[in-house]
Amino acid sequence: MVKRVGILTSGGDCPGLNATIRAISKSLHHIFENKIEIVGILDGYHGLIHGKYKEITEDDFADILTLGGTILGTKRTPFKLMQVIEEDNIDKIAEMKKNYNNMKLDCLFCLGGNGTHKTANLLSKEGLNIITLPKTIDNDIWGTDVCFGFHTAVNIATDVIDKAHTTAKSHKRIIVVELMGNKSGWLTLYSGIAGGADVILIPENPYDINNILSHLNKRFNNGKNYSIIAVAEGAYSVDEAKMKKKKRMELRKKLGEKNATNILAKEIEKLTGLETRTIVPGHIQRGGSPCAYDRILATQFGSYAATLAKNEQFGLAVAMIDGKITSNPIQKVAGKSKLVTLNCEVIETAKQMEICLG
Ligand code: F6P
Repeated sequence: MVKRVGILTSGGDCPGLNATIRAISKSLHHIFENKIEIVGILDGYHGLIHGKYKEITEDDFADILTLGGTILGTKRTPFKLMQVIEEDNIDKIAEMKKNYNNMKLDCLFCLGGNGTHKTANLLSKEGLNIITLPKTIDNDIWGTDVCFGFHTAVNIATDVIDKAHTTAKSHKRIIVVELMGNKSGWLTLYSGIAGGADVILIPENPYDINNILSHLNKRFNNGKNYSIIAVAEGAYSVDEAKMKKKKRMELRKKLGEKNATNILAKEIEKLTGLETRTIVPGHIQRGGSPCAYDRILATQFGSYAATLAKNEQFGLAVAMIDGKITSNPIQKVAGKSKLVTLNCEVIETAKQMEICLG
């Protein structure tokens, strides 16, 4: 029987982490009639490697449903370095196993994105009892319809686009809004549609500047002398798509840019003669309180994960499939990602709304 469990949050934070911690903890207390010990591992896998943790009592998880960030702290601990012994001479996998056993855990809940799932899979293969929960504003975890954090980020990004609209219109400008998402375009696509962006550029569909220009000119000729371009941080042009990533990065470095946003804005201004500005909301997209949808999703995911632990079903990644809360084997999820497919419904909708996709 499960008597003592650990929870960790790893990778970039997002709204809904605390709501998930609360749901796991509350459900476990309910299921085991308070005969459960919960350990919060601090700062993700880093804390597991270094044995940093604290006991979590009801006081800790009360009133955190609406709280942004994570009460446990988080850190990026790159998967590619997990099996590498660095200068500190620490065998990370051995330390994590040792600390899991020292803490006398029966199970460990890992809340995180793609990197977190890869390490979770490694630990599961090493014989630890692991259950993962899908967190990321990028919404790119394989095998789940949606990840918690995503819809809050969509709301924030949509608000940015809404605000860009009013000022763009007054000044008759083009505004390029850069949105997060790493290599995926979900956040830009959803918020772009929700915010009524005129152009949406995502990494899954390299853009051709000529298509963007003709769309902007068409708008201009129809009396629309302002436009909003939503661009994903990972977007690149068709010319760049022909290059190896290294060459692309070198070229951008020469231009003093990491992402396409400013390059694009400068080109558009030069070629259209219209004043063009950029907005980069950055980490604000991951900040603050989770929206109602994410609170419910996090609560459903957390409570389902607690039931898996009660049934001693481990090596599983909690997911939503076709609207139903369920799970996939972690090994099926690890190492994959869910990108936007160009024939998906939401892309069709964007085309139908005459949004330029580059
Ligand atoms: O994975 C979430 C995310 O916000 C990505 O969208 C973004 O590329 C990355 O994290 C930023 O990472 P960091 O917080 O380490 O700068």
